[in-house]
Amino acid sequence: MTSQTKVNNPAARVASPPDSKGDVVPSGAGKCVMSRRNFLFASGAATATFTVMMVLNPGTAQAKKVPATVATYPRKLIGKLSQLKEDVPVEFPYPDEGAYSEAMLVKLGKPAGGGIGPRKDVVAFSYTCTHQGGPLAGTYKPKDKALGPCPLHLSTYDLTRHGILISGQAYQSLPQILLELEGDNIYAVGVFGLIFGRFDNLQG
Ligand code: FES
Repeated sequence: MTSQTKVNNPAARVASPPDSKGDVVPSGAGKCVMSRRNFLFASGAATATFTVMMVLNPGTAQAKKVPATVATYPRKLIGKLSQLKEDVPVEFPYPDEGAYSEAMLVKLGKPAGGGIGPRKDVVAFSYTCTHQGGPLAGTYKPKDKALGPCPLHLSTYDLTRHGILISGQAYQSLPQILLELEGDNIYAVGVFGLIFGRFDNLQG
């Protein structure tokens, strides 16, 4: 056995909403003892991996600590709250600049699930349809606070309810970019849901 274990379970690398303590526990034999929030702050904008100690076979005679390399999302500055205009989307790439990384940040003008800011109305989502990868750029509908219809098969997503499907051929919600606000700065810190075309959101 190697002295270092790599955590490569895709499910563990699709960010989940933090629990009440802000902790995340990857699946598998080991138990991660570091909070997701600490991962994010420690990783900085340019680092995508981090080493933590994990306990293999917890609660057994074979239990032992090993270092584990864990991929984590970059904390990326994507905009200023004061510069957002209601119903005017801003495009940015996340979590990298590879395929299907196009995403949008928008101030909806009404509270939304996962929204940040004083009105909890600032959200961000992938710009790639979950059905077959249709481009959703330019399809924002201010009246409905929705993205779509997709130019390929008409899927439309509700941005006030975590990107849930309103209509069309898709059967998965639109991946939501998790945001943090620090002063006037808006940071992307993770993705909730699997981005179309990726087996792992953090693939190189
Ligand atoms: S690719 Fe968007 S609905 Fe089919």
